[in-house]
Amino acid sequence: MAIKYVAEPFRIKMVESIKMLTREERIEKIKEAKYNLFNLKGEDVYIDLLTDSGTNAMSDKQWSGMMVGDEAYAGGRSYFKLVEAGQDIFGYKYIQPVHQGRAAEKVLFPLLLGKGKYAISNMFFDTTRAHVELSGARAIDCVVEEAKDPTIRAPFKGNMDVEKLEKLINELGPENVGLVVMTITNNSAGGQPVSVQNMRDVSAVCKKYGIPLDIDAARYAENAFFVKQREEEFKDASIKEIVKEMFSYADYFTMSAKKDTIVNMGGIIGIKEDDELYQKIKGNTISFEGFTSYGGLSGRDLEALAVGLYEGIDEDFLRYRIGQMEYLAAKLDDAGIAYQSPVGGHGVFVDAKAMFPHIPYNEFPGQALAVELYIEAGIRTCDIGSYMLGNDPDTGEQLKADFEFTRLAIPRRVYTQAHFDIMADALIAIKERASQVKGYRITWEPPVLRHFQAHLEPIE
Ligand code: F0G
Repeated sequence: MAIKYVAEPFRIKMVESIKMLTREERIEKIKEAKYNLFNLKGEDVYIDLLTDSGTNAMSDKQWSGMMVGDEAYAGGRSYFKLVEAGQDIFGYKYIQPVHQGRAAEKVLFPLLLGKGKYAISNMFFDTTRAHVELSGARAIDCVVEEAKDPTIRAPFKGNMDVEKLEKLINELGPENVGLVVMTITNNSAGGQPVSVQNMRDVSAVCKKYGIPLDIDAARYAENAFFVKQREEEFKDASIKEIVKEMFSYADYFTMSAKKDTIVNMGGIIGIKEDDELYQKIKGNTISFEGFTSYGGLSGRDLEALAVGLYEGIDEDFLRYRIGQMEYLAAKLDDAGIAYQSPVGGHGVFVDAKAMFPHIPYNEFPGQALAVELYIEAGIRTCDIGSYMLGNDPDTGEQLKADFEFTRLAIPRRVYTQAHFDIMADALIAIKERASQVKGYRITWEPPVLRHFQAHLEPIE
């Protein structure tokens, strides 16, 4: 069914040239990159969908904010502007800037976790899982079952399985569960939203057992837009009201601001009211990130971030943004290409297992499709599957992911309708020759977060 592209609620004032290499050149480049798309040079990519993180186009208001950023080492004006914006939107007492999302995790998690502890999430993103494990603790995913079937079109496939959560807490012992993390939207499940009702239920379980609740808030605005569309209670609420309601059920948030806050660098830790914890956070921030009033960012970054917090929750922007995903998804529906459906907030997660039923999980179908997309049309994407998940930290064995996705993550305010048509055409062309595509083996890998650096080769 054809779906209309929602026109951009902006016009373009500055452009950046891109070019497509020839097919022969692309085949050579990906071989040189050891079939790892992170090893490609950016200039050898035509449409870069590796991530929606830090790849966004800032607005004229953000760029003009960069000119008035206050670079004072301590107590700069831009810092206070950011704190005020954060307090206004999230309703939290303390807003601590850091340089990106994983820095927020690195500062906060060791204060709550450690050896023998567990953290439970609807789904951990890879760096978030890594910081749980680096603290000595173990990370457990507890997403609703329907998330695991890409064909089930449920409204809130990002949700936590609340019954299973309570069961897990009892099995592990509440005293051993240091933290529950709600990732909104649920990136690893395909940018799927979490309902406010689910947040309420999870919060009630956490309160019952005295376990703190953290929101991994990278895509909180997209989540709020889905809540408005799909959760009856909120159909007349503003995005800002929904965000405030959502965050009122948690104790902290850790945020990569490189996504919904539409900047190129930045992160935030929010603390609702815990003065003692905030003191410790300030200590860790000073050690790892820099003084508390800049947290690893320059004053101009803080200024752009303060402006971006408001632009990210603009409903016209979000309608256009989610509209892009729906436009591409409708084209895939017409072509019979499976993806995590309904489509998520920040990208289309193509079901590589369905596209390549002949490639098993330990030959990485999601990675195979990512390589093909580069060869087909110079499009750079990434695997969200067993290749990304990596090995069991205790046994060293390859883990089997619940999904084998190839993620087309869409940068904000960057690509146009014609680019989306190229993405769809490339996927359709690959589907036609799917049975000839081969799996991959890893020839070298580092111990942690291996997918960023590993070397691969096709299995002949
Ligand atoms: N949490 C979630 C849900 C994320 O998606 C990311 C990053 C992070 C935390 C870490 O934030 O990159 O600022 O340190 N996700 C990016 C992605 C990298 O491509 O999905 P960061």
